[in-house]
Amino acid sequence: MPRLLVVHHTVSPALDEVVEAGLAGAQHPELVGVEVVTAAALTASAAEVLAADGYLLVSPANLGYMAGAMKHFFDTIYYPCLRETVGRPYAAIVHGNNDTTGAVRSIERIVTGLGWSPVAPALEVTGAPDRATREAASEVAATLAAVILGEV
Ligand SMILES: Cc1cc2nc3c(=O)[nH]c(=O)nc-3n(C[C@H](O)[C@H](O)[C@H](O)COP(=O)(O)O)c2cc1C
Repeated sequence: MPRLLVVHHTVSPALDEVVEAGLAGAQHPELVGVEVVTAAALTASAAEVLAADGYLLVSPANLGYMAGAMKHFFDTIYYPCLRETVGRPYAAIVHGNNDTTGAVRSIERIVTGLGWSPVAPALEVTGAPDRATREAASEVAATLAAVILGEV
């Protein structure tokens, strides 16, 4: 069964709401046939990345960059996955309090190196997630799941 791996660094209720909204979108009843697996960025392995068909990356912005935990994830999987995962689809959601620009840029630079393919522009969320934000997170995850299923 095609697999979507959600790699997240969830540090607060706000991040958790974003992750939950993404999971709800990826597991929408119409998206039958995609397995959704979660992995904390600090423990996600190259084997988990190789075994998946697409990736939802959820990170806070920290000091103008992705969270150190998400950087650790990329440091762990970059070379082991460099050849085998080229072209696989991904989406990124970045949560911050005021400016997520550098964090998004830092993720995009690395996934460009990996050759992963964005299914949508990175979703940037600031502050407490509202309904529109949760819907946007669900939508981007649903789009990713649909791409993994070959429906888009
Ligand atoms: C050390 C540190 C650095 C941070 N740097 C940024 C930043 O550069 N840009 C930003 O928008 N938010 C920044 N934040 C806010 C976090 O992204 C935010 O706390 C996290 O997404 C969780 O959201 P919450 O605090 O609303 O629960 C920073 C937080 C910490 C603790």
